Amino acid sequence: MRMGMDYYPEHWDRSMWEEDAKLMQDTGVSLIRVAEFAWSRLEPTEGNYDFEWLDDAIDTFARHGIKVVIGTPTCTPPNWLVKKYPDVLPIDAQLHPHYPGVRGHRCFNSPSMRHYSFLIVEKLALHYKDHSAVIGWQIDNEFGLHECNCEHCNTKFRDWLKDKYSSVENINAAWGNVVWSGEYSEWSEITTPLGGNRAKNPSYLLDYKRFETDSVVEFQQLQLDILKKHCPNHFVTHNIWSYPMSLDYYKLGEKLDFVSLDYYPSTSPEKDVTSGYSGALTLDLTRGIKRQNFWIMETISGPPGCWMPMWRTPYPGFIRAYSWQCIARGADTIVHFRWRSAPSGGEQFWHGLIDHSNVPGRRYEEYRGLCDEVNRLAPLLEGTQVKGKVAILHSHDQYNAFQGQLQSDGMDYFENIKTLHRAFTKLGIMTDVLSENEDLTGYKLIVAPSLFLLDTALASKFDEYVKNGATLVVLPRTGVKNPNNVCWIQPLPGPLSESAGVTVAEYDPIGKDKNSINWNNKSYSCSQWCDILTPQGAEPVARYEDDFYAGKIAATVHTVDKGKVYYLGTFPEESFYSDFFKDVADTLGLTYIPNLPEGVQVSIRSNGEKQYMFLLNLSRKQQTIQLEQSYYSVLNNKDIAQELNMNPYDVEIVELL
Ligand code: GAL
Ligand code: ZN
Repeated sequence: MRMGMDYYPEHWDRSMWEEDAKLMQDTGVSLIRVAEFAWSRLEPTEGNYDFEWLDDAIDTFARHGIKVVIGTPTCTPPNWLVKKYPDVLPIDAQLHPHYPGVRGHRCFNSPSMRHYSFLIVEKLALHYKDHSAVIGWQIDNEFGLHECNCEHCNTKFRDWLKDKYSSVENINAAWGNVVWSGEYSEWSEITTPLGGNRAKNPSYLLDYKRFETDSVVEFQQLQLDILKKHCPNHFVTHNIWSYPMSLDYYKLGEKLDFVSLDYYPSTSPEKDVTSGYSGALTLDLTRGIKRQNFWIMETISGPPGCWMPMWRTPYPGFIRAYSWQCIARGADTIVHFRWRSAPSGGEQFWHGLIDHSNVPGRRYEEYRGLCDEVNRLAPLLEGTQVKGKVAILHSHDQYNAFQGQLQSDGMDYFENIKTLHRAFTKLGIMTDVLSENEDLTGYKLIVAPSLFLLDTALASKFDEYVKNGATLVVLPRTGVKNPNNVCWIQPLPGPLSESAGVTVAEYDPIGKDKNSINWNNKSYSCSQWCDILTPQGAEPVARYEDDFYAGKIAATVHTVDKGKVYYLGTFPEESFYSDFFKDVADTLGLTYIPNLPEGVQVSIRSNGEKQYMFLLNLSRKQQTIQLEQSYYSVLNNKDIAQELNMNPYDVEIVELL
């Protein structure tokens, strides 16, 4: 477990490196990430590699006990490269190249991009494979999907489709191309989406997204193979951007040693409490990619800006508390972005820890304290992991399918996951947020938000979990389509109807209008969607209170062997989830913390022998928590009372016996 800094030696005069390294060492920093945008310095002209400056920088930091992660610079192809080999540039929907200036100007399928990336990554790998300070690699920077319509992408897309469907006739059948005369008679008629108007065939659009992910994964693999070949003792990771995301992070993460996350919680006072909850979800999602601990490769250390008017400066305690939140949810190393604000370039005002003044200030002092704490507790926390009690399912495919076809005004797949996750976090119940393709054996409670695309294979997997004792919670828009994004011709929830013991007689996409449901003699408002249910063996548990379907069934429960399936036919307000999950937790014997104050989060890291409970007040208010007993805080080396008062952004870590 290390504390690290993103450092750009190429932004500073060499005379500053030594001073920076010394101050970092004094501060407790033991790692830097370098070079992920430095291609023009590493290869100033074609084939002229210059690593002397990087050697010098790495050696300077190594002399201060600081280890190094090298970022491969392929997110920023230099000007000589794009000028000489224009196929490097992605082509937008208007068939214009995306010019350099802002990073990310590379087509993942461009032969020149792949060739020159291969060369520079190989040179770097061979050069640094035995350097004692270099411990690992970050490939590229924050991959994402950026539609490219170049000829190479067109050819590769057709090849991808040939692989999947063999013939255009099969595509016509699988996508239902008969509608609007969309049938293809030969491969050359198939192109990239050129902007991908949402009214285009959804099956085509979804397959294109999958193709884009595969292109990124292939591009990454090219680098991964070189790095693994020459540097077998180094780890290889990638720093993902946040969620929601079209790029399939599960596929991206498959071959990496671990995943890293760039985490920028909002500093806005209005988002004071919500950003902690969305952050908790982001961290749980990241841990779920490989079902293991992860790194934070960038996180906030000053007011962000440049891409938007500057955000508020992190409130006292914010930098520290949010770093602990990452560790509390499975991060094993925290790298802050960045040591000092950039003197020039597009991100001058995305502030680093130290301002342009170059005078370490309040944020630096807070960070220094954090380094002391993390370094002191690292031996205790090393090897501990986070294990959730509840599984919430997430899928980039489902997200992309919903993004392509908005279901009702305000219905948002990812926002709904946030609400569900927040309800659990507020109850102090840790969740693992996992791909629907994972093995979920062992979870007593599985929450499956809107399995829009659902085939019988996946449905029978859920059926098995339920028969073996799991409780499954299903939400509206489940079982609507097959994985090709074509509607099932059968009553909803399609392949899950039998396990759920219910069918949807009619639905009302009410969007931002409101209805309400009655559950356990209490009324809860609901919106987005209303399924009117007909039980087929299930018991009604909630009814609508309004509109022409007042009194009709809104939710059911079906007992199947040892387990149960709840079908919620609408999206109720958050307090419903809170009451409902408490009720389900009581039945399943899952413990929760009633009355956890807003903004306070609790989680546990354990290693089988020891358990550490993290208590975080991620809010600007003082909060009081009722604990089961008094504890000793290993973080602050003091006893803490059963009735614990927490100041804004306070953190406590206690060892559970
Ligand atoms: C990240 C990116 C960094 C930096 C940071 C602040 O998304 O990886 O290079 O740009 O955001 O904007
Ligand atoms: Zn392309």
